[in-house]
Amino acid sequence: MSGARALFPRHREPAYGPGPGCRTLREEYAMAITFTRLTDTFAAAVYGVDIAAGVSEADFAAIVRLFNDYSVLVFHQQNITDEQQVAFSRGFGPLEGTVLTNAGSGTEIALISNVDPETNEIIPPTDRRMIFNSGNEMWHSDSSFKRIPAMASLLSGREVPPADGNTEFASMRAAYAELPAEKKRHLEGLVAIHDFAYSRGLIDPTLIGEAQQHETPPVPQAVVRSNPVNGHKNFFAGAHASYIRGLPVEEGRALLQELTAFATQPHYVYVHQWQPKDLVMWDNRCCLHRGCVWDKAKYRRVMHRTTVAGDGPTAHA
Ligand SMILES: [Fe+2]
Repeated sequence: MSGARALFPRHREPAYGPGPGCRTLREEYAMAITFTRLTDTFAAAVYGVDIAAGVSEADFAAIVRLFNDYSVLVFHQQNITDEQQVAFSRGFGPLEGTVLTNAGSGTEIALISNVDPETNEIIPPTDRRMIFNSGNEMWHSDSSFKRIPAMASLLSGREVPPADGNTEFASMRAAYAELPAEKKRHLEGLVAIHDFAYSRGLIDPTLIGEAQQHETPPVPQAVVRSNPVNGHKNFFAGAHASYIRGLPVEEGRALLQELTAFATQPHYVYVHQWQPKDLVMWDNRCCLHRGCVWDKAKYRRVMHRTTVAGDGPTAHA
């Protein structure tokens, strides 16, 4: 968005979060595993964890704390099965089922892939399934179109292309922290309506059928949220956010788009370049993300996602 900087002047220091540098969990959390910060304000790579071998209770507690503090956690070299991914994910809370439109429908594993699970062949980029999945290339928070939006997503890179196909993450927490006080006051108490049919309709109005619309009716979400553990606040926007209750549709939509554009400026973004066997987890409560394009006709990209449910609605019906 042009002019975002003028609207929201950026301060030099992030207004929240742990101090700079790389530190060990032994120092900060009295643990043996380590982490490295991936940007100034959020995202960390965690080392010393082998999910397939099992994670101790103490290590898991440290990971939960890191997750609440850093929002995006990267675990390299995690050679895991679906069962191991599901078991690790369940440690954070109950898992969501997968929506009808996903190839993994009926299971706890959503398939984010350009490979047909039936034939094991690359799906042509012009296929309707790939057009539908291109919605993942818009900045969004997983399941924000559900009454109880997701807490976390865990994405396992089973097959990754040799180039491109990155996943980008934007911190709505870091962005919120740098909003002028007046803007924060304006957002407080607002409720946005999130709607899967609206966001997919931006690609093609015919993409969502009646059964899917019935499965995912529009839902209210608070525009300002806070982390229940550390209290850090963020605004909550993204592609599924359609309009704001009580405001003219175009006015509310413009505000939500402005917030999304503000949070997705490069200095609030971490770009993850996938290596095989990476597992990346992120906090949908305070992050947006998007998938980036790759040579879809040529290279396979197979990602398995588990989604941890949120702990309740964020706004009254
Ligand atoms: Fe997503």
